[in-house]
Amino acid sequence: MYLYMIICIIGSGGREHAICKTISLSSKVSKIYCIPGNAGTKQLAENIDLHINDFGKILKFLKKSKVDLVIVGPEKPLVNGIVDYLEDNNIKVFGPRKIPSQLEGSKTFTKNICKEYNIPTAKFGIFKKKEETINFLKNSKFPIVIKADGLAAGKGVYISNNLSEAEEAVNEIFNGKFGIAYKILVEEFLNGEEMSFFVICDGKNFKIFKTAQDHKRVNEGDEGKNTGGMGAYSPSGLINEVLERKIIEKIISPTLKAIEEMGEKYIGFLYAGLMIVDNEPFLIEYNVRMGDPECQTILPLLKTDLIDVFNACCEENLKKLNLEWREDKSLCIVLCSNGYPEKFTNNLQINNLNNLKLSNNDFIFHAGTKERGNKIFSNGGRVLNFVSLSDSFKDARERAIKHINQLNWGDGFFRKDIGFKIIDK
Ligand code: AMP
Ligand code: GLY
Repeated sequence: MYLYMIICIIGSGGREHAICKTISLSSKVSKIYCIPGNAGTKQLAENIDLHINDFGKILKFLKKSKVDLVIVGPEKPLVNGIVDYLEDNNIKVFGPRKIPSQLEGSKTFTKNICKEYNIPTAKFGIFKKKEETINFLKNSKFPIVIKADGLAAGKGVYISNNLSEAEEAVNEIFNGKFGIAYKILVEEFLNGEEMSFFVICDGKNFKIFKTAQDHKRVNEGDEGKNTGGMGAYSPSGLINEVLERKIIEKIISPTLKAIEEMGEKYIGFLYAGLMIVDNEPFLIEYNVRMGDPECQTILPLLKTDLIDVFNACCEENLKKLNLEWREDKSLCIVLCSNGYPEKFTNNLQINNLNNLKLSNNDFIFHAGTKERGNKIFSNGGRVLNFVSLSDSFKDARERAIKHINQLNWGDGFFRKDIGFKIIDK
């Protein structure tokens, strides 16, 4: 039994504000720190201005502040081994260690597991040289997918419709657009609908942590440039019992078995990005964290105390815990700064936030925001997340849009069609 825990969340996005809000509701928490946090977390926690990749300074702060549990939001520190570092220094952390984080950190690591454990995924080839990649492409069918290995923050994936587009992609990757490229991945194009499938793991067992769909493209109708995510909804309209069983049996369980057979344990959220083709799941990618903005739609649905969930994971006790969820539909619209995902301006003031009238089923999670002198300013491309829960997605979307219109922030834009596949069909 834990009481009065001191918690530290690492990260500064909408996902971390949603985690912060959810654990602030726990009676077991006495204090929350966020490194570095945003203007939203500042209302619930103490923000600490440290860089999320400065592990040494973070450790010093955690020791000094007697933090009982650290929750790591984003992938970068995970892939860089923050969990190994903190655990080796006797700090309790929720998140996967460095080797299992390669599931997100290296596409070839994941593809090799898929091959060895027969996990359904797009057919692929891994190449180390520009010439051999291009020779392979000359005999390929289009469209084809070309990916840089390693973390490329959602970029580094090209869908090429012909040889010349493909050649351009290969050149950009090998010329270092996403960092030094040792390997390139060429993949069959899968034609289906994407779904985000989440599980939470304690190193021994796992539980499903709901499904969601996000909208990655910047423009309505899912067109234009890729972004971190313009909006999401949960649950996905694609999920059913048969599909869920297939995802567990064909994808999640063999992956966790592979990690175990490497002599490693997976503790943390695991996010499978799937393509569903005729009710059959194919793995597109793994992320070793919650999705953003999917997390902002899922956490408000959780009835179980999130601190109990994290503690159970850190103690290999998840099997005994019953995760309870609200039945509602949840939808999130991201309000972005004009120009995102390309050039945008920071430090634009956001008035009016305190004047919005929200019900218990409406949430605003901050992403790129900063507080200065009791005023709130933008501090990133994705600025605010408007989430509403309802018995219908349509109503949830209308309410989120109503609140964005009430805010009336002249420097921002958003997609009005989030959830169109399930609402407007
Ligand atoms: P990733 O970073 O691997 O998630 O890829 C980014 C986006 O590219 C995905 O969300 C998909 O929309 C698309 N994508 C990636 N791989 C494939 C594929 N094999 N077939 C079709 N679309 C893909
Ligand atoms: N919403 C996509 C991601 O978090 O990667």
